[in-house]
Amino acid sequence: MTELNKIALQILSKGKGILAADESTATMTKRLDSVKVQSNENNRLLFRQTLFSSLSMKECIGGVILYDETIRQKTSTGKTIPELINSTGSLTGIKVDTGAKVLAGSKEEKVTEGLDGLRERLKEYYKLGARFTKWRGVYSISDKYPSKLSISANAHVLARYAALVQEAGMVPIIEPEVLMDGNHSAKDCQHKTSEVLQKCYEELELNNIDLKGTILKPNMILPGTNSGEKISSEEIAELTLECLKNNVPSSVPGIAFLSGGQSEIEATANLNQINIKNNTGFVMTYSYGRALQQSALKFWSKDLKNITGTQEIFDHRAKMCTLAAQGKWSKNLENSK
Ligand code: G3H
Repeated sequence: MTELNKIALQILSKGKGILAADESTATMTKRLDSVKVQSNENNRLLFRQTLFSSLSMKECIGGVILYDETIRQKTSTGKTIPELINSTGSLTGIKVDTGAKVLAGSKEEKVTEGLDGLRERLKEYYKLGARFTKWRGVYSISDKYPSKLSISANAHVLARYAALVQEAGMVPIIEPEVLMDGNHSAKDCQHKTSEVLQKCYEELELNNIDLKGTILKPNMILPGTNSGEKISSEEIAELTLECLKNNVPSSVPGIAFLSGGQSEIEATANLNQINIKNNTGFVMTYSYGRALQQSALKFWSKDLKNITGTQEIFDHRAKMCTLAAQGKWSKNLENSK
């Protein structure tokens, strides 16, 4: 087993998942604004450090993805954030892309940037304690999108990113996110996600990526939020599994879904069904941002000093997600706080 494969499995095994706490300052400011908390360095640190010192970190969270600001911060006890995360047995990850920018040549679409200077940044992140990284490509669905250009441009940069990350001794999370927004059907989502994944793996292979030392972070297959289509968790699981089975090489050790705007319960129930029906051989777990943090953030915003109460809310969510990552979640357990 290679070192990178070991890291990937350490993050994902035993029902563990990933806490995606890698919101850029602009995105975190939106989240804090929504609960009327001032977005300053201290408050961003306080909320995140509260989560990273929760009890569930040990049992449930195999890795935490950070943003550049957070990986450099220290807690009030003088520990660095990576030291705090590592002391729970979890691994530190870092978002290394610099965001999705307008794609010249197809201006309604986006391509993710961040390759310039990446080799040097990765060396620094490794020294700061990171052992895995994340890069997100973003695609929207409409009658003409995602275009071949966006599929190809994003796959190309994802693969070049992955090559640099493996060269630096870290595991790249490959995150091609087909967005939920739109009128499209779940079948359309399945079809477009398949095209996106096929192109990603074509480019990853061309760039000699060791797939065993990667993690895929895809969207689930869902109907567009404005489509009016309603489908069950069972159907979502079937479409998602079919898509991943047909388009992801079996050497990929694990898949950690993004939540993408689903509610906490939807993201948990869908992951649970995916694991009940999992016939793929892949570990299927979570790498949630909003679906792990929303309730905790809301609770914390009412009293920034109530650390224990905030941690209890987060612990419950992390526990539910970890049960779902083993197909053991139920509505009864959800309500048995
Ligand atoms: O890139 C997106 C985040 O890592 C996952 O966030 O679960 O809120 O979609 P989300």
